[in-house]
Formats: sequence, structure tokens, C-alpha cells
Amino acid sequence: MSTQARTNVAPSAPRIGSRRHYLMCRPTYFTVEYAINPWMHPEDPADAGKAIAQWENLRRTYLELGHEVSLIDPVDGLPDMVFAANGATVVDGKVFGARFRYAERAAEGEAYLAWFKENADKLGVTDLVMPTATVEGEGDLLTIGDKMLAGTGFRTDVAAHAELAAFLDREVVTLHLVDPRFYHLDTALSVLDSDNVAYYPKAFAPQSLDVLRRLFPDAVLASDDDAVVLGLNAVSDGRRVVLPEQATGLIGQLTERGYEPVPVDLSELRKAGGGPKCCTLEIRS
Ligand code: ARG
Repeated sequence: MSTQARTNVAPSAPRIGSRRHYLMCRPTYFTVEYAINPWMHPEDPADAGKAIAQWENLRRTYLELGHEVSLIDPVDGLPDMVFAANGATVVDGKVFGARFRYAERAAEGEAYLAWFKENADKLGVTDLVMPTATVEGEGDLLTIGDKMLAGTGFRTDVAAHAELAAFLDREVVTLHLVDPRFYHLDTALSVLDSDNVAYYPKAFAPQSLDVLRRLFPDAVLASDDDAVVLGLNAVSDGRRVVLPEQATGLIGQLTERGYEPVPVDLSELRKAGGGPKCCTLEIRS
């Protein structure tokens, strides 16, 4: 048994990143015209041109990191469709569709599912389902190793967690969210690699916090300052972690742990309550 104490310093072996395949949706029709989370203020509708430039930079960043990026066509009248993470959850080549909580986003579920149906062969998709319960894709359903972490409290119904477990034949760990600013699991927790996460403790109910502490005793804990710039809305390939540049504390913590932070500015998208992860749906086939 190792006598080495657990420390927060970089491991001696470099972390290994792996090539990922992401689906994104250009924010052509992006605006803030309704409010379904506390970040959204229709009186400050956001600048679509600026949002597009920030989003283009995110896409370029993924390509420069060597990842593959596929695109789905944006639909006029669906301003939140840029948040591709909510469109589905794709694991082991199986697509678990999205059924949105609010009418404003309802049509996105079918649009994303149709894209996966059209591209199934090319993507290696073997199975698709539209769940019966409310579920907002990877916003609430995060993959870590052979498990799923599943948020509930604001958007996704706990009934969808059971549907997901049956569909994927994987363990699904339910986590209860309690702070309306962190309404999707991916705003409060980010998966760093196949066995560790970063999270904001105050976003979780006490029992869920116990679960997180037990599963991830070495987790990176985010400060208030990093959480409120949506610093946890990050995309990791196991080594490189793309995250909001405003999350300076988290950038330092990740560096100490041997990850390579890749800061990006998505401040215009944050006016709708989204960051890098929200704009990114991982296709795991
Ligand atoms: N305005 C969108 C909503 O409230 C933002 C979605 C952000 N996506 C995410 N994966 N957290 O639904």
C-alpha cells in the first residue's frame, strides 16, 4: 500500500487527454427573449454578433485541441438551441433524447433527435429513444467512467433517471440541486476525467453532498466567485479543460492538479445562463 499522503499537487505522470467528438449549434438566432432561469433578463437581450464570435472561438478552440466538431442547423425562433448539451445524452452509441421542461424550448428535443436519426450510421448510433419523463440532456446527465451522474430539482425529473438507467444499463447516481442559479447539473459540477469532478458544494442538497464526498473524496471544490461566472460549466478531455476565463480561482486549482485549463470567454451566452459545456454535446459512440 502506498504511504504517500493525498495531496493537491500535480501527479507525477502527465494526465492523458483523449480525442472527443462534439455537436454544436451556431447561435444565429440567439437572443434573450424569455426568462426560464435567473440569469436571463429579456430587457438585456444580448448581442447575437458578439455571441456568434465567442461561440466561433469555442469551436475553433476544440478544433485546435484536435477534437471533432459536428454542427446541427440552428432553427429560427429557438434562441436557446445554441445550448446543444441539452439536446440529448449520447453514451455507448445510444441516444437518450430530450424532453424540455419549458414550452419555449420544447421543439428543440425533436430537432436534435431528428439530427441523430439522420446521421445515425455515420455516427455509429445503434439505438435512439425519446424518454417519457422531462429530461434536459447532458445539462443534467453527466457521464463519468462507467457511471452517470444525474441532476434533478429544476429541470430533469427523477423519473428520467430510472429511464436512463434502464436504457443504458448503467448505474445512475441522482443528485438534488437546490440553488436556482445552478439549475442544471452542468452548471454546478464538471467531470474532469473518468474518476474525478469539480463541484460547487452549496448547489447540492445535504444528502447529495454526502454522496459526492463519498464518491469523490479528492474533488476540486469551486468557490462562490468561480461558481457565479459559471466556471464549472467546463468541458474536459481528461487533461485539457475548456472553461470560462473569468473562473480564475478554478483555473489555478486545476493547474495545481495537473490539468491544463483552456480559458474562453462566453460572457454573452452567460446572459442566457450558459457557458462552454452548455454549448457542447459530446457524442460518445
Ligand atoms: N437558457 C437556457 C435554459 O435555461 C440555458 C441552458 C444552458 N444549458 C446547460 N446545459 N446548462 O434552458
